[in-house]
Amino acid sequence: MFHCLYLLLPSGVQSVWTVSRISAERGGLVTIPCYYDQKYKQHVKYWCKGYTWSSCTTMVHSDSPQSKGEVSITDDTDQLVFSVTMRNLQMKDTDWYWCGVKDGRDRVGAPLYLNISDNNLVLINMNMTWNEALNYCRTHHVDLVSTHTKEIQLWVQDRVKKASTAHVWIGLRVTCVLNFWFWVSAETFFYHNWAPGNGTGAEKCGATAAVESGGRNQWVSFPETEKLNFICCG
Ligand SMILES: *[C@@H]1O[C@H](CO)[C@@H](O)[C@H](O)[C@H]1NC(C)=O
Ligand SMILES: *[C@@H]1O[C@H](CO)[C@@H](O)[C@H](O)[C@H]1NC(C)=O
Ligand SMILES: *[C@@H]1O[C@H](CO)[C@@H](O)[C@H](O)[C@H]1NC(C)=O
Repeated sequence: MFHCLYLLLPSGVQSVWTVSRISAERGGLVTIPCYYDQKYKQHVKYWCKGYTWSSCTTMVHSDSPQSKGEVSITDDTDQLVFSVTMRNLQMKDTDWYWCGVKDGRDRVGAPLYLNISDNNLVLINMNMTWNEALNYCRTHHVDLVSTHTKEIQLWVQDRVKKASTAHVWIGLRVTCVLNFWFWVSAETFFYHNWAPGNGTGAEKCGATAAVESGGRNQWVSFPETEKLNFICCG
């Protein structure tokens, strides 16, 4: 059980922002980060369900109640982010939600759409370059999969069995600025499954990674221009 989210950093000045899209599996758990401006450090934060900001229903508050049923909220005033965790997700939880901050009699908020499904990892049997695959996933799903845990790797291994290419793109590439591997989802590297000699950091700027669709399903470095099947999440 895992979720996938696409964090689009705000352009311009926003006082509250969050992930732009998020998907999670039924029965699973999701933690949504809501970022806020320094000036709201001491303000009450809350989580509201509903399509419109004016008519959404408040579920939990950072003062109280901090948890209600399967939903809870915690505010990290040092990092300027509050997190909402929703457990035991059901199809009916698919909806629009708002990260909200109370500001006197006023309030500010940022919306997001949470999509719950039974299977949010999809193998796409089309041959595309890494960048085309990333765009495809961000348009039709949420993101190119980030296999940043052993559990997700196992799901990916199941999906790649039906691939028509010997390797399948995952959301991993080398940054050209700092020259290290990073997940498109900005996840931390707790887990890796590189084939010997790959992922060493010696790869060139723009190198991207794919998982083997057979054998040990290890990760191999490829130039972005290779045309491969890929896995989207969301
Ligand atoms: C929700 O997820 C399902 C399964 O992945 C997908 O088919 C559907 O299009 C998604 N809905 C929205 C509104 O993104
Ligand atoms: C993708 O490439 C593989 C291997 O070259 C090929 O077998 C398959 O037919 C191609 N699929 C499509 C949809 O073009
Ligand atoms: C990366 O792994 C593949 C598959 O095991 C191997 O063929 C290739 O030589 C490795 N690349 C390097 C730079 O060692």
